[in-house]
Amino acid sequence: MPTKVTKIGVLTSGGDSPGMNAAIRAVVRTGVYHGLEVYGIMRGFSGMIDDDIIRMESRSVANIIQRGGTILKTARSKEFGTPEGRKLAYENLKARGINGLVIIGGDGSFKGAQKFSNEFDIPCIGLPGTIDKDIAGSDFTIGFDTAVNTAVEAIDKIRDTMDAHDRLFIVEVMGRDAGYIALHSGIATGAENILIPETKTDIEELICSLTEKERRHKLVNLVVVAEGDNFGGGNEIAKIIKERLPTTDIRVCILGHIQRGGSPTCFDRLIASRMGYHAVECLMEGRYNVMIGILNNKLNLVPLNKAIKAKQKISGEWMKIVKILAS
Ligand code: F6P
Repeated sequence: MPTKVTKIGVLTSGGDSPGMNAAIRAVVRTGVYHGLEVYGIMRGFSGMIDDDIIRMESRSVANIIQRGGTILKTARSKEFGTPEGRKLAYENLKARGINGLVIIGGDGSFKGAQKFSNEFDIPCIGLPGTIDKDIAGSDFTIGFDTAVNTAVEAIDKIRDTMDAHDRLFIVEVMGRDAGYIALHSGIATGAENILIPETKTDIEELICSLTEKERRHKLVNLVVVAEGDNFGGGNEIAKIIKERLPTTDIRVCILGHIQRGGSPTCFDRLIASRMGYHAVECLMEGRYNVMIGILNNKLNLVPLNKAIKAKQKISGEWMKIVKILAS
């Protein structure tokens, strides 16, 4: 590993998340503050392979803190998964003298970074940027708060029409492997049932609870389901319910990518700024190959390989709260 980092690259990789721009801004400005040369790498690891790399100054990141998406664009690079792709990426960085990297993304991006830093002498720092909040070692990920607030705002609107028609609504939110968006938005909108990938969905229990509600003439019911539930997403759940309870008036709403866009919340801007700042500080201090997490409101440096292996766990107590409050 190089003893002193002098030129750093920053990239965003995997699914974009609101607040990534705030993180880029923090990395660039902290780097400039320390007298480093800072480079923006376009479209994640693909930009390293294609040598699509731009010099960034303080003004390059003006007026972006409030914008969703990522000015550096993002991608999931298949080529970076190959030894040839990573070698090409390394040669392009080497030719420019870039000797430190900040990767803003999810666990797939960290896996790539970990492999790369094992093979080549480029230290990597990861910033958890994903709406899914599924990375161990950090209570928050950049973008989760915005995504969950977007979901809450949408579900509140759905509730109005749902209530007007006495309907059962199934709202599908994002989360292929993680149920945090479903859990948080579901609790915050008073969902009767929340189905998430972390717990095996018990269809009999769901049907029982809906039947029991019907008996009480409680026809307005909200089911929030994460897209990665073991029974499938909203459409699949609706089909099963319709088969078992044919008279129920059901509608499905799939919120989809709307949850990934929009202006980041104050909270996401704050954690992105804090994490971006610490990423550069870590590189300056020679603390390499870690992810910057925030745990119990304190900075938590997690070795990249640990951030990859473990997921955040959903406590059983949350599910108990859902059941008690949904009566
Ligand atoms: O990882 C974030 C995420 O939004 C997941 O919740 C979702 O399953 C996935 O990305 C969707 O990815 P894509 O944009 O490739 O459809």
